[in-house]
Amino acid sequence: MAYNLLKGKRGIIFGALNEDSIAWKIALRCHEEGASFTLTNAPLAMRMGEINKLAETCNAKVIPADATSVEELDKLVKESVDVLGGKIDFVLHAIGMSPNIRKGKEYGDLNYDWYIKTLDVSALSFHKIMHVLEKNDAINDYASIVALSYIAAQRIFPDYTDMADAKATLESIARGYGARLGKSKKVRVNTISQSPTMTTAGKGIAGFNAFFDFADKMSPLGNATAEDCANYTVTLFSDLTRSVTMQNLLHDGGFSSTGMTAEVMHLFEQQG
Ligand SMILES: NC(=O)c1ccc[n+]([C@@H]2O[C@H](COP(=O)([O-])OP(=O)(O)OC[C@H]3O[C@@H](n4cnc5c(N)ncnc54)[C@H](O)[C@@H]3O)[C@@H](O)[C@H]2O)c1
Repeated sequence: MAYNLLKGKRGIIFGALNEDSIAWKIALRCHEEGASFTLTNAPLAMRMGEINKLAETCNAKVIPADATSVEELDKLVKESVDVLGGKIDFVLHAIGMSPNIRKGKEYGDLNYDWYIKTLDVSALSFHKIMHVLEKNDAINDYASIVALSYIAAQRIFPDYTDMADAKATLESIARGYGARLGKSKKVRVNTISQSPTMTTAGKGIAGFNAFFDFADKMSPLGNATAEDCANYTVTLFSDLTRSVTMQNLLHDGGFSSTGMTAEVMHLFEQQG
């Protein structure tokens, strides 16, 4: 159901790779709620061309940008303001990539060049985006900026290695820029800490299926889906959440507050 929550709002959405992407679902919901926006992704990711399908459905222009390049972000922001006909009201950062995870490197044996790449792509890009928005005076008063995070920023999970450090940095950047942009322009900046979700990035983590099932059994509401995440993100982009900022918002079906569930206990009891 649509409520026109984003009618007249202009945005930039990073990170829609294919139909499984959380950003893809968020773009669809933003469109349903009346927003206009540009879609962006790394030029390499766009070669697969799937984003054009989404762009057509949402009547959105696709503007390639490597989110680690301030120069490319600068072009993206200027062009978005131009195409959308005004300053930006909302931004979604849904970007994550770790070469160390891709190559199966464990935490004690990280390649440090790749570690820096993980931090740059998955966390510093968030800083760079807000830097460019502020420098170009491209963000509207009362705008809302959201990045997607994961609870490995606070707690240890196997095989999440340097992405955990990137997520902790990402959440810290949300507080840093939240304080700055809140004071100057009433802009809010938050992270949503999402349940494990079956996407290209998610499935890249070793043992993801077992991990997904465990989280599901440990969450009283079950894992939050990408569609649920899209609904929640829309509320944060809307005018209904104008005093929420500098928060890491747990969108996880209750996982983060659960010590043990009967379902998980049962699995261990079966082992005897
Ligand atoms: N899938 C999960 O279980 C899960 C859980 C919590 C949080 N998240 C987070 O959600 C976000 C979106 O991931 P997803 O799960 O939808 O997977 P996804 O693979 O669909 O999205 C990741 C995106 O990052 C983009 N990207 C990578 N390098 C980039 C660069 N240099 N410049 C611009 N874009 C770049 C990719 O092209 C892709 O579109 C990520 O931050 C991820 O960490 C995912």
